[in-house]
Amino acid sequence: MCGIVGYTGKRKALGILLSGLQSLEYRGYDSAGISLKTKSGIETVKTKGKVIDLISLIAESRLDTSAKIGIGHTRWATHGKPSTENAHPHFTEAVSVVHNGIIENYRSIEKFLNNKGISRKTDTDTETIALLIDHYLKASLDFKNAFFESVKKLKGSFAIVALSKDFDYLMLAKHESPLVIGISEGETFIASDVSAMIEYTNNFIFLEDGDVALVDRDRITIFNEKLEETKRNTVQINWSKEKAQKGGYKHFMLKEIAEEDEAVRNTIQSRIDENGRILLDDEIKLDKEFLKNIDRITVVACGTSFYAGLTAKPILEKFTGVKVDVEIGSEFRYYDYLYSKNNLFLAISQSGETADTKEPLKMAKKRGIKTLSIVNVKESAIARLSDSCIYTLAGPEISVASTKAFTSQLAVLFMLAFYISQLKGKREAFEAAKKLLKIPSLIKQTFDLTEKTIKELADKYYKYQNFLYLGRGICFPLALEGALKLKEISYIHAEGYPAGEMKHGPIALIDENTPSVVVAHPKEPLYSKSISNCEEIKSRHGKIILVSSRKSTIVDDIIEVPEVDYDFAPFIYIIPLQLFAYHVAYLRGNDIDQPRNLAKSVTVE
Ligand code: F6R
Repeated sequence: MCGIVGYTGKRKALGILLSGLQSLEYRGYDSAGISLKTKSGIETVKTKGKVIDLISLIAESRLDTSAKIGIGHTRWATHGKPSTENAHPHFTEAVSVVHNGIIENYRSIEKFLNNKGISRKTDTDTETIALLIDHYLKASLDFKNAFFESVKKLKGSFAIVALSKDFDYLMLAKHESPLVIGISEGETFIASDVSAMIEYTNNFIFLEDGDVALVDRDRITIFNEKLEETKRNTVQINWSKEKAQKGGYKHFMLKEIAEEDEAVRNTIQSRIDENGRILLDDEIKLDKEFLKNIDRITVVACGTSFYAGLTAKPILEKFTGVKVDVEIGSEFRYYDYLYSKNNLFLAISQSGETADTKEPLKMAKKRGIKTLSIVNVKESAIARLSDSCIYTLAGPEISVASTKAFTSQLAVLFMLAFYISQLKGKREAFEAAKKLLKIPSLIKQTFDLTEKTIKELADKYYKYQNFLYLGRGICFPLALEGALKLKEISYIHAEGYPAGEMKHGPIALIDENTPSVVVAHPKEPLYSKSISNCEEIKSRHGKIILVSSRKSTIVDDIIEVPEVDYDFAPFIYIIPLQLFAYHVAYLRGNDIDQPRNLAKSVTVE
């Protein structure tokens, strides 16, 4: 999705804006641009394409690069096709604007402007914001008040940063789209995502919905939605600059798979003591009596986070003893869900900004349901909206394809299951939690043990156009997630299916051109049944890659993983599936970290 950067301070703004935009490339975009306030007014350079194209264009331009205040943007088209004209910033002679989100009432604003003889030149909703501010400036308001008047008119979701020709400060507005202000001595950074500015500061103010801010190099004034001056806390984000860099790996995705042991370790180590007690009392701000008495857990999430919920469902049910529903956010938001009396609503989101997860959360709150979230990005909307949040401590996930977030989410879901079970006085949850402590080193072992074989298999299989991913029991949601990984970065069609369901339809797809990846933990009878399914595939000339710790002679290839208890298998069995998708996409020459059409956090519906 779109990315915003802004800077005002003692240094030249251009380099900071461009490196910030490069840090945001992972979010997915189709055009990029910057505006600087220079001696001759506002100068803007923008282009369809990548930040590297913008850099070449700037090198050829006569842009005054000494400017110390400016804004930048990467656009992911919503209104109007990807083009240089539609790229941000959108500007007039007096003001330049970058915007994330959607202005839902831009048509009525346009009518208002048209009646005053002002019209848009681009297809974007954003241009109406620039024209509106310009209109109020011409009506003799100063920049701050022109911005206030404009923001009052906007409906929809937005993070906006505006730059003026005549005033030395930036104006910001945030509503349902993230915007943070980074603070350092004599300079102020603005971004839609902390990773863009983590190189320069660890201290951030997260604007809240409805906030408007006036920002210059050493003064930040924040106004609430009534435009009264207000205070927001400064939050320290301890992500290191290195975590947001590739660190010698070809792609963030591979680095993040290699980091999964560390991500899970960081997520669990301070939250489980040596006796297996789950130490979440301070973090879960929900009443313990309520937690002991919940009668249903409703998990809502999208994509990989949804699959994490689906994977953890049997563990949640086994340890809490209550029914768990796992629902897709984009469907749930239009569904009149029948909550039970003591229902816990559980949102899972890496970014914490996914609109299709955020909306059901808001709806649940309106219905008086207690809400808990599992989120990776601190101070994100979902984390703040929910009654309580447990953070995954995976560090920044830059690759669009989610990997370390998945295993870290599983780690929190498992801890939550054990925590509720321990509150209910069940002994077995202590032993299980102790086993979880051993998982990070097993994840590392799996990565080291399987990568060579996976590279060879990727070489053998990367030209196929269709794959089936099959699993039973706890391995079924892993098949879904494995198929999702393959399709999103390799653009190969892949379908995840419960292995036993194959004979009810998908078996018609099997032939020598459609390989199957079968995920099978040796637990009986599930293993034998999965092997019977392999027999069915073989007799139809289908090729099989088996992911298991137990060998079988009937498959073509095996990715052998270390032995692990059935309950904990997802942490281990998912690693080769992620690696296989990565190496296949690599051999196909794809843009792995920024796959086509995808965005890292989907903040619009
Ligand atoms: C898949 C992927 C997406 C996200 C989904 C939810 O690799 O990245 O399917 O999992 O968009 O995103 P979050 O977890 O940020 O809510």
